[in-house]
Amino acid sequence: MNLPNQSPEYVAEVPSNIALIKYWGKQNAELQWPANDSLSMTLSHARSITRVQINNEPCDLLVIDGRQADQNSPQFKKPLQFLQKIRTILEEEIDTSRHLSITSHNTFPQSSGIASSASGIGALTLGAVAAWTGSPSFSVLSSRGFSQERLASLARLGSGSSCRSFGGGFVLWKAGKSPEDQETISLFSREHWDLQDMILIVSREPKLISSSHGHDRAWTSPLFKNRLSEVPHRLQRLQDSIVYRDFALFGAIIEEDALEMHEVMKTSVPSLNYLLPITREILQWILHKRASSHFPAYFTLDAGPNIHLICEKASLDRLVNEVKKENWPIEIIVDEIGSGPALSLSALKHQK
Ligand code: DP6
Repeated sequence: MNLPNQSPEYVAEVPSNIALIKYWGKQNAELQWPANDSLSMTLSHARSITRVQINNEPCDLLVIDGRQADQNSPQFKKPLQFLQKIRTILEEEIDTSRHLSITSHNTFPQSSGIASSASGIGALTLGAVAAWTGSPSFSVLSSRGFSQERLASLARLGSGSSCRSFGGGFVLWKAGKSPEDQETISLFSREHWDLQDMILIVSREPKLISSSHGHDRAWTSPLFKNRLSEVPHRLQRLQDSIVYRDFALFGAIIEEDALEMHEVMKTSVPSLNYLLPITREILQWILHKRASSHFPAYFTLDAGPNIHLICEKASLDRLVNEVKKENWPIEIIVDEIGSGPALSLSALKHQK
């Protein structure tokens, strides 16, 4: 609660995103420099909401989904180390010595296969920088030297894919010619194409190998170099399909890219398999449906067993019903293309 005389509470909301051309493998892990350009669709409902206040305590206080931070738990290790990292990076520019009280929650269930590190690290970056600089809006942040592009590049240091959550619609993360040359560009706004993401949750088990560890193995796959040479052309074709809203072309490309990433994972040393038998069964079903009837939906997969089925708004209800009819032991979460992050001051600040 925000009592009188307390410092204001900044509320950062950052959405998750689903990659259409995947970021897999890094040229430099320390500097978070990806091996290839990637392109994602920003989601709308799946968000991390992070409230940040300057405190007078001797340390930062972090609560995620109602649980108090514990240094040894992997859920907290990543955000706490990241907070320390941006504090050090920014300390000569702004006063980052002040400790923060941070309360964060996701609007989507934990371990649902929705990229919580992209939204979570994004919201932590936005909330912390807003609190340290006393900025209640993006325009004030920008006037203090923190454009959305700069915030994205800070967030990237905690989780690569989080930089793409700083824009709405379709977002391109360009690797550039050096780590400093990286860019995050919003290519098309959400209004351009009303796509939906039907997320089929087949498992809620946390993954055994994190994507950060998975990235390290990419170079051991004999398929990886070939993937890297294919991606630029694929990315260009994907952008064309978005420009013309050519859904069949769009779908063919996103499936090709997701399957290729999983082939790279499988052929890495040691081999990585994020898929479950039920994932494969559903993928087969989708391919069969498409071959035998009009089935206007295409899948993509992240580093996990859950399936993102992308479709246009007009076909959503029918497709949800078709999936439900199969009676798989799965949960369905429906999301859609979104417009990017938000920043505000907690309404309670007006209390006197
Ligand atoms: C499969 O961004 O989670 O979701 O940078 O090491 O934190 P780190 O990895 P992360 O990797 C995401 C991988 C992916 C594909 C993607 O989102 O592009």
